[in-house]
Amino acid sequence: MKRISILGSTGSIGRSTLSIVESYPDRFEVVALAAGRNVQLAFEQAQRWKPRLISLTLERDAEELGKRLTDSGLGATKVVNGTAGTVAVAQHPDADFVVSAIVGIAGLEATYAAVCAGKTVGLANKECMVAAGEIITAEARRQCKPILPIDSEHNAVHQCLRAGKMDEVRRIWLTASGGPFLNTPQSRFRSITPGEALNHPTWKMGRRISIDSATLMNKGFEVIEACRLFNVPPSQVEVIVHPQSTIHSMVEFIDGSIVAQFSVTDMRLPILYALTYPERVASEMTFPVMDLRHLEFAPADMKKFPCLRLAYEAAEVGGTKTVALNAADEIAVAAFLDGCIRFDEIPQVIANVLNETKPVKLSSISQVLAADSEARRMASARVELLGPRSAPTSVLQKES
Ligand SMILES: NC(=O)c1ccc[n+]([C@@H]2O[C@H](COP(=O)([O-])OP(=O)(O)OC[C@H]3O[C@@H](n4cnc5c(N)ncnc54)[C@H](OP(=O)(O)O)[C@@H]3O)[C@@H](O)[C@H]2O)c1
Repeated sequence: MKRISILGSTGSIGRSTLSIVESYPDRFEVVALAAGRNVQLAFEQAQRWKPRLISLTLERDAEELGKRLTDSGLGATKVVNGTAGTVAVAQHPDADFVVSAIVGIAGLEATYAAVCAGKTVGLANKECMVAAGEIITAEARRQCKPILPIDSEHNAVHQCLRAGKMDEVRRIWLTASGGPFLNTPQSRFRSITPGEALNHPTWKMGRRISIDSATLMNKGFEVIEACRLFNVPPSQVEVIVHPQSTIHSMVEFIDGSIVAQFSVTDMRLPILYALTYPERVASEMTFPVMDLRHLEFAPADMKKFPCLRLAYEAAEVGGTKTVALNAADEIAVAAFLDGCIRFDEIPQVIANVLNETKPVKLSSISQVLAADSEARRMASARVELLGPRSAPTSVLQKES
């Protein structure tokens, strides 16, 4: 029985993880959950899974949840809140495996805490690898504990790498669907609305990652994540557009063999792989191989999607540059979703912050967090300068 804690249990990856746990009741037990602000879903999850510990972001939400749980006879579940709460979930002594699926930098401290506590981590939160991957992977090596990628591309690479040794790898090929604007002329980018950008062609995901997929920043983050997880330089990681998202990624070995992983586009499969590694267990997620007809590939267009180029540039330097890349993107994406900037202004904000960021190597999470705050300040100032004048209708306005 594997005992797991889930950081970000109410999100898309968190819910998929719980659905895997549901399907394999003899294999997994839920020990602790951390969510953000979705009190109702956190309550339902606590009722269903009866974790020993649950965390929410805000104190008042935690108090409300605690009261509802006590009133329902579930007072045995302890309720905590804030960063200390997510860290407690990550380090719960009864958990052996932690799924890191909080979105953005908010998941960094808890993910690092899980690694420091010697937990095996199933990593979905790529932003913490972008911001602090050098520090996190160094600690995991010290702990002799693996970080198992849940991100489908890195999960695919992890699977492909089992076919050879690291010094036999020539290149890692990360596939990219190309997002919803693969065939949209760049001249249209200034009028793209949040609603259009949230509409990913092949994956159903959270809001930030959906926008990052539309700008290809998500792929840029994945390049950095791959460098850090597999200890390779950016020049050994190639992005290739593959609109069907059937092949999740490939590894090219020095003898010319290329090993690819393909399967259904369902995040439950990489989650299951990470949760059961090094075993493989039977699942219903079969792929109809006879349907493999149209597999298209094309080089990624870094002129049309400058976020990918910015990510490669930041990856070469690391330290404060990758912290700034993530922080500026988080601010720019939020500003775009709120209708404050245009879609084509997202890379402008990020490029500006990267230019202003001095390259410095970082050796602690507190240094990462300080660099993150500074980059956010610069990005917010840039957003303010651009102003809401030209942005298309925000999602919030559209939904109300
Ligand atoms: N979705 C995918 O298919 C996919 C694929 C690969 C990688 N990823 C990565 O996985 C991570 C999660 O993505 P997602 O799509 O699942 O995102 P999501 O649906 O937006 O869920 C985010 C989760 O984080 C929680 N959260 C947000 N801020 C928090 C805070 N300050 N403290 C504690 N919890 C907080 C949210 O809680 P509330 O909802 O309760 O506020 C929610 O549970 C991201 O890093 C993403 O890049 C996702």
